[in-house]
Amino acid sequence: MKDDTFTVRPGRVMKRRSGLIYGQFIEHFHRQIYGGVIDPGSPFADEDGFRTDVIDAMRKIRVPILRWPGGCFVSSYHWKKAVGPERTPVFDKSWRVEDPNLFGTDEYIALCRRIGCEPYICTNAGTGTPEEMSDWVEYCNLKDQGEYARLRALSGHSDPYGVRYWSIGNENYGAWELGAKGVGEWGRLVLESAKLMRHVDPDVKLSAAALPDLDWNVALLKACGEHLDWISIHKYWNLMAQENDFYTYEESMACTNDLDTDINRVRGLLTAMGLEKKIRIAYDEWNLRGWHHPSVHTVRQGRTKEEYIIPRDKNDINSDYTMADAVFTACFLNTLNRHSDAVAMAAFAPVVNTRGCIFTHPGGIVLRSTYHVFDLYVNHLGEEILDGWLEAGETMAAVSRGGRREDVKVLDVLACRREGDDAITMAAVNKHPDENRALSLRFEGGPAGGEYRVLSVTGDSTESYNDVGIEGVKLTEGPWRAFEGTLCCELPPHSVQVIEIRK
Ligand code: AHR
Repeated sequence: MKDDTFTVRPGRVMKRRSGLIYGQFIEHFHRQIYGGVIDPGSPFADEDGFRTDVIDAMRKIRVPILRWPGGCFVSSYHWKKAVGPERTPVFDKSWRVEDPNLFGTDEYIALCRRIGCEPYICTNAGTGTPEEMSDWVEYCNLKDQGEYARLRALSGHSDPYGVRYWSIGNENYGAWELGAKGVGEWGRLVLESAKLMRHVDPDVKLSAAALPDLDWNVALLKACGEHLDWISIHKYWNLMAQENDFYTYEESMACTNDLDTDINRVRGLLTAMGLEKKIRIAYDEWNLRGWHHPSVHTVRQGRTKEEYIIPRDKNDINSDYTMADAVFTACFLNTLNRHSDAVAMAAFAPVVNTRGCIFTHPGGIVLRSTYHVFDLYVNHLGEEILDGWLEAGETMAAVSRGGRREDVKVLDVLACRREGDDAITMAAVNKHPDENRALSLRFEGGPAGGEYRVLSVTGDSTESYNDVGIEGVKLTEGPWRAFEGTLCCELPPHSVQVIEIRK
């Protein structure tokens, strides 16, 4: 069996990650809201219609922040139509379906409170106005000044919601987005929106839609960098809007050579503009798999349900979410941890159904392979990133979807320390499709020995998945074992580990 050595310097803390990097996203799309988190007819629903099984699963992975309501959906969403007792269904122009409009701001806050997470509201900068955005801040954050704060109080919520995190717009640079903006106009709109929002509540933290593009970001940051705390970027590596064509395990591993390209671009630009200490990256939509919604973001719109609505069900075939998704997700979480000085928040897209880590069905939920990776990282990996390096850094060949040969590192190892119990915790991913790897951990400056245990997300094959009655991917906890000097352990193929080490 091939082996490699990872040397850790436990005394050298390089960075401290924000807990918000393990955030999630939920959008009014297909079955994420209705039939996802809310389903009054379900035997799992509580008195307000929330699915308790979904909420329990989200609590278990301690979702720190939940971005809502879109996504593309938000760019024609008018929040005022979805508060108070009188609700009428609205036509969602982005996804071209009727939204029952029963889940609005009050229900979203109630959901966040049940989960115990921070709300993060994305505003409509497509067809909406700066005033509408600032009215939303008033509704959420002022006690009783103004008609919207009073409207909230009248609906039975006398205490303000205190929504701290807000994003101005979603992907407004894209031709697919309703009310898309040009480079020149975006900075002005964000500036005016930020001013109005901060005049209502000066304490809000603001992000704005951006991308790893020089022209867009320079114009945005020149116009209103001083008003922003974050800029948002998004990435789906396996784009599938039109064709539901899944990358193979090998093609997915080839994508792991491209995990921090966008972060480096944006971080470099922020540094060049002298803003790297003030503005951080909000990676507020990411997933290996892009969502499938053919014939909707195009001039050639689908005309029949079969063309543009029914195909959305293909997002929810559980057998498609395999160890490829788990291994990729772990590698990206390692990347976010390594860049935690630049990335302050991230949101896996989405949390429930579509490509999410939780799937709902009438009889309960399925925890897809990616869920177990969040469970492993959130509940076991430490907050402080330690200095460390792999000696050999062996690579394997993986051919990308574009036909390019990529030399992909077989192991992705990250050393952390956990506050509280001071344990050293190592994330160790073996990307190899079918070979074990031996990993030796060497601690510079101690500990000279102690105890360790290995927690693993594994499946028998790269294609293993979870579904109703099928548990192909699991999180298992090994026993505590003693070690002295170098700690040696074996990493199964296509697997994700956290190794906990205590003195
Ligand atoms: O495909 C889903 C969409 O992906 C989200 O709504 C949008 O924000 C992103 O383009």
